[in-house]
Parts: sequence; structure tokens; C-alpha cells
Amino acid sequence: MAFPPAFIDELVARNPIEDVVGQYVNLKRSGGNLFGLCPFHGEKTASFSVAPDKGIYYCFGCHKGGGVINFQMEVEGLSYPDAVRALAKRCGMTVPEDEQYQSRYRQQERLWALHKEAARFFHSQLYAPVGQAALNYALGRGMPKSTLTTFGIGYAPDSWDSMVKAMRAKGYTDQELIDSGLVTKSQKNGNLFDRFRDRLMFPIIDVRGNVIGFGGRIMKNDKDAAKYLNSPETMIFNKRKNLFALNLAKKSKLGYLILVEGYMDAIALHQYGFDCAVASLGTALTEDGATLLSKYTDQVVLIYDGDTAGQNATKRAIPILEKAGLQVKVLQMRDAKDPDEFLKKFGADKFKVLLEESSNRVEYQLNAIRKKYDLREDDQKVKFLHECADLISTLGSPVQREVYGGRVAEAAKISMDAMKLEISRAWKRRQYQQKKKQEAIDLAPAKALQPKSRTIRYDNVKSAMAEECVIAQILRQPALLDQTKNLQAEAFSSELLGRVYGQLKNRHDQGMDVSVAVLSDLSGEEMSHITAITQRQQETVSEKALSDCVRTILAEHQASSVSSEDDLLALQNKLRERKGLGV
Ligand code: CTP
Ligand code: MN
Repeated sequence: MAFPPAFIDELVARNPIEDVVGQYVNLKRSGGNLFGLCPFHGEKTASFSVAPDKGIYYCFGCHKGGGVINFQMEVEGLSYPDAVRALAKRCGMTVPEDEQYQSRYRQQERLWALHKEAARFFHSQLYAPVGQAALNYALGRGMPKSTLTTFGIGYAPDSWDSMVKAMRAKGYTDQELIDSGLVTKSQKNGNLFDRFRDRLMFPIIDVRGNVIGFGGRIMKNDKDAAKYLNSPETMIFNKRKNLFALNLAKKSKLGYLILVEGYMDAIALHQYGFDCAVASLGTALTEDGATLLSKYTDQVVLIYDGDTAGQNATKRAIPILEKAGLQVKVLQMRDAKDPDEFLKKFGADKFKVLLEESSNRVEYQLNAIRKKYDLREDDQKVKFLHECADLISTLGSPVQREVYGGRVAEAAKISMDAMKLEISRAWKRRQYQQKKKQEAIDLAPAKALQPKSRTIRYDNVKSAMAEECVIAQILRQPALLDQTKNLQAEAFSSELLGRVYGQLKNRHDQGMDVSVAVLSDLSGEEMSHITAITQRQQETVSEKALSDCVRTILAEHQASSVSSEDDLLALQNKLRERKGLGV
């Protein structure tokens, strides 16, 4: 969706980045820039910076960066047009009509409204005669009416078309019903029928309070039916990007978030006072889910079921959460299969004890290693010590190494000195491996110069370095574009850098503003990469250095086109030869 460039210019001018960021981050001035805690990853020291003069933000910790529109997109999880719309609303501008976009947005609004109506319908059915058994089931599982109200729990009647009828009566079209995922079209006769039938319904609500989907549980255990059925992915429902109950948990005063496997677990926790619980939506935790969590906390307690599946899921979730900058604690479920069951058996006070005992990542991992070996066997004991030493040697603090080393030594009944030796050997081993790795990088510097983001690759690093320099300088001093007239975007070896250069050049030629903030059609990663470049190249280079860069780009471009012409020629000759030989 393309907005008129002049509109974007005004939008950016009327939404100063420090004001927009300031709504989310407490910023403190230091010199020309402002600093605060990064909203995109959990941190305790401010590595998130805003440069009002350049109109950009950049985090030195997680390397996210961009202009004001991109910030709005990232912080609220919006698409480009939605972010533009939100900023326009903020400063009281009208968004120019765009048919395609407007109609998509209207469709989304209809689906949100439809879901809200559907949730009301399900909830009302719970208290209707048809819902008697469902209500008893819910109460029987220990959910009082207050919980049913807070979570908007409902009942989907045992009927093929009660939802279809109820929504048609509210004026929704058949197409809208199909788009919502609440209704399916029969392959045979084209009739519409309800997706959810005879299930207890859990509305899934996003952080902005929109009902976006449902999970439905059967009430009698039946081998043939899935215990839970969830809404399919729709225009408004993405399982990977949403978490159950986060709309409530985000308001918790507890200061951490609890991540569990099931709807019922999250609900039980809220009910017993742990109002910071959320659940993933019938899938494993994803990177998007972790990023979403990190917007609201820097500490997560993982409580997955005590079975093997739960333990494996825990193992997978830890690095995902840590990568999003979150501190992870793991609560080991015992004497019950999941938090819901535990709370109902033993109550909140006992649960609090478990929570206090919950271990940090290192303890959890040491325990997991411990379970793998039988320490009565000498060879297993050696392997156990080896593996523990490996883990402990990664810890930065000597105190931590001493404490955990001591525990392991005790478990294996060896002296602390022997353990220390083992840890320092593991440390040396890793140092050696890292040195080898560094040497490999030094020998192939091109690799080290590649962008951090794995989705952006430079084919010609020499040219790309010159291209980065040109982009950074232009963004500092747009007037330099007058001196790069002979440089065309096509000459860039990097598609991304060429695209950015092309946009900037076009705008400059039309007398419009040139800045990171006005770039369009860039993904979040691309935007971060461009911002990182401008951060790295802070100094103004001489005119000569700039023209050297231009020369390098042009020379590399020519070399690459010549070589491809050469290749063509060679191919032609080869074909001719073959023909000559009659092959
Ligand atoms: N799930 C699912 N589809 C299934 C089974 C499970 O989507 N057929 C998802 C649901 O989100 C569910 C979670 O996995 O909440 C955990 O499943 P499970 O542990 O089996 O259920 P519980 O949460 O324990 O639910 P209950 O206590 O109602 O049995
Ligand atoms: Mn359960």
C-alpha cells in the first residue's frame, strides 16, 4: 500500500520520534540524544537511544532501529499501513483514501465485531437451558461464576447452525462468517455449519482487547474427538503471535509473567491470585510469542506439565525466551500433572512454595543433566561431571561457578578442587574453540562483515561496504546526493541498499525530505539494518572518501557485468563447439 510521499513527510514531521517513543519509554537526555530502557528486549541499563535530529531510534543491545513509523509498527505489532493510520490519528491528520487498504481494514473491523458478538452469544448460551450441562461442567471444574465472567467463558450449543443463525440475525454475511473461521462451508451441499459444537468456549483476546478467536473443549472424554479445538488462522487471528490471557496478565502487579501450557492452567492461576499467567495457543512457544512477552516483563516463570512432553517443551522454550532478553525460571511440577490440578489439590499457599523453590535456568539444567546419569557407575559419573563442568564454565560470575561447582562435587562425591580443575579445563576448551572460530573469521573477513540479520546477505562485500558508506553519508547530509549523480541504484550490489538509495535519490530529486524515517517498504529487519549502518558510521567522511566509495561501487558493478558478459560469451562458444561436434 503506497501513501503519497508528501503525506508521509508531513506525518513524520508532525510525530516527533522523541514524543512517540516517549509514550512507551521513559527517556532521559544525554547530550544530543535521549536514552531509555529498550521496549523490545528486557534490560536493566539503558541501551536504547533516540536521536531527535535524525528522527531515528536505535538499540545498542538488540540492534533494533528505524524511524517513527517503524517504531510504531514494532512496538504495537502493527502493519505499515496500520502504523501510519495510528500516527495520523495521534496528530489529527486524515489518511488519504486508499480503496484496497480501507476495505481490508473495514473487513478486520467487521471480524472483530463479529467475534465480540460471538463471544456474547456463547456466554449467553452457558446460562440458557441448553447450556445447563456445560455450566455444571465448568462449575464442577472449580470455576466460579466470577471466573466465567472475567474470562468470558461460554458454550457452543450442540447444533449445526446456532452460530450461523445468530450471526446472520446480527447482519453478518455468509462470507464474513466463513472468513471468521467460526463457520465452515459444507463441500457437499454448500451449506454453512458451526465449527464449534457442544464445547465449552474460551475466547482468545489480544492485548488491545479484541476477541480474535476461540478455543473449545469437549466435556466428555472421547477418543475420537480432539479435546481442544481452536479457531483456524484468520485475517485477525495468528496463533504464533498471541498468548491466552495476556490481555489480563499485562496489568498484573506481580512483576513477572508465568507461562503455562493450557487455558485451564492459566485460568486456575488467575483464580488463585497469580494474575500474571498466560498460555500459548495450542502450539509451542514461538519467537514471536517470546517477543510479545518481553514487551511486558523481563522475567518469565515457565510451568509446563511434568510429563516428558512438558519437559521437552521447557528445554526448547528456554533459549527462545533468553534470546528475547528474558530471565527464565523453571518451576518443576510435582504431585500433580499441571498447575490447574495442583492448585485444586493443594491450594495457593503450597503453590507459592513451589514458586519460591522454582529454580533459575542453571539449576534446572543441572538437574536435567543429573537425571541422565546413574552416579553409582564410574563411567557415568565421569560423563556427568564433564557435562556439568561444561555448563558451569559458561557462567560469568566466579561466585556462581563456586556455588554450582560445589553442588555438583557434592552430588558426585568428589573434592571441590577436582571439580574446579574440571571447570577450568572446560573453560579452556571453549576458549580454544572460540579462538579457532575467530581465526576462521579473520581468515575470511568477508563473513564477519555480513549483516547480523540472517535474512540480509551481501554477495559482494567490497562493494557493499562502499554502498553502506554512501547510504550513511547521504542520511547524514542529504545534499551529498548532488555529488552522486552518476551513481544509479542499479549499480548497487546489494538489492536492499540499492533500493534504499533509489528511494532517497528519488525523493531528493523531487525536493523532498531524506531520512531513515521516510523509507517505505522495508521489513523490520531491513529497517534495523539500515539504522545500524547510520549508527556505525557516525563520522562525516571527506568528499574524496565519498567519491572513492562511488568509484568502488561503479567499478565492482562494471566488473560483475563484464564477467557475466564473459560468461555468456563462453557459453555461446561452448554451444557452438558442441554443435560443431554434432553433440
Ligand atoms: N491443545 C490443543 N488441542 C488438543 C489438546 C491440547 O490445542 N487436542 C492445547 C490447548 O491449548 C490446551 C493445551 O494444549 O489448553 C494443553 O493441553 P492439555 O494439557 O491436554 O490440556 P489441559 O490444559 O490440561 O486441559 P484440561 O485440564 O481441560 O484437560
Ligand atoms: Mn489440565
